[in-house]
Amino acid sequence: MLNSLHYLVLLYSIGAHNVFGAGITFILEPRDTTVSPGMSVVLNCKAELRMPSGNKPAQIKWKNLIDGEVTRPAAANGSLILSKLFSSEDAREVEQFQCIASVDNVGTAVSRVASVRRSVAPEFLQQPGNITSYEGQIAQFPCLASPNLHARVSWLKNKRPFIMAEAQESRMIILPSGTLEIEYVESSDSGVYQCNVSIPGSSRLSDEAYLTVNSPTDLSGHTVPPTFVSKPQNLQVGEGETLTLDCAANGVPRPSITWLKDGLDIDLE
Ligand SMILES: *[C@@H]1O[C@H](CO)[C@@H](O)[C@H](O)[C@H]1NC(C)=O
Ligand SMILES: *[C@@H]1O[C@H](CO)[C@@H](O)[C@H](O)[C@H]1NC(C)=O
Ligand SMILES: *[C@@H]1O[C@H](CO)[C@@H](O)[C@H](O)[C@H]1NC(C)=O
Repeated sequence: MLNSLHYLVLLYSIGAHNVFGAGITFILEPRDTTVSPGMSVVLNCKAELRMPSGNKPAQIKWKNLIDGEVTRPAAANGSLILSKLFSSEDAREVEQFQCIASVDNVGTAVSRVASVRRSVAPEFLQQPGNITSYEGQIAQFPCLASPNLHARVSWLKNKRPFIMAEAQESRMIILPSGTLEIEYVESSDSGVYQCNVSIPGSSRLSDEAYLTVNSPTDLSGHTVPPTFVSKPQNLQVGEGETLTLDCAANGVPRPSITWLKDGLDIDLE
């Protein structure tokens, strides 16, 4: 009984693919990107029709959503190659593309919309500021840049590039948000820090931020309530983008951190 029910469902779904053109699945969809004027960019797209008898590749076309033009990709793998983008004076700030996948006698599916933006020198949304910390605590220097949150962030200590791999005992990490986190602060961490945000073709240095490290007062037998080193902030992200929220706190004993979403615990496992 169970087997025959299963069989019926399978038959129905094969029928549905043929009649409505569903079942075309994207393996690769174009991603949002930024590009410096005059540079080239490749948008990828790949789709197939999934059938019990085997998969069939879909034909790919590309639509420019701003001027409505539809083109066949020059690349055999379906990728759209855009050269010398944004090179003219009157070029738009952003172009939007969508991939159209079709299979003869089956139908058509459209991908997500990929935005290609003209990149401009990054501007700081948040810069590192002076910090006073005690040995053994956590210190964080924020660094957040627009226009794209995908700018590469590196750090300088005392005006020299700071190679994370060499950072002592990996106490220092750059969080996905760009924030520099120093765990178990030591007196040798004192100094002046700067973040360097870069996108292809341009970079910008932040203000100087001083880390002053005090030796801990004798806290044996005391507890110190937690205080935040960083707190999550309101953020806007596009669908499919990665969102990072930072949180760190000092206190004695060392505070543990849990997250809530809409008032409910998030299981981070
Ligand atoms: C498709 O081909 C283009 C041009 O040869 C290449 O740049 C692109 O990376 C390829 N895409 C994939 C997904 O391999
Ligand atoms: C940061 O500390 C340095 C050195 O103590 C000082 O010169 C500078 O004015 C401070 N900056 C701010 C914004 O307080
Ligand atoms: C900032 O980063 C960019 C890109 O990696 C690099 O070209 C530039 O030299 C860096 N600036 C400094 C002051 O280190």
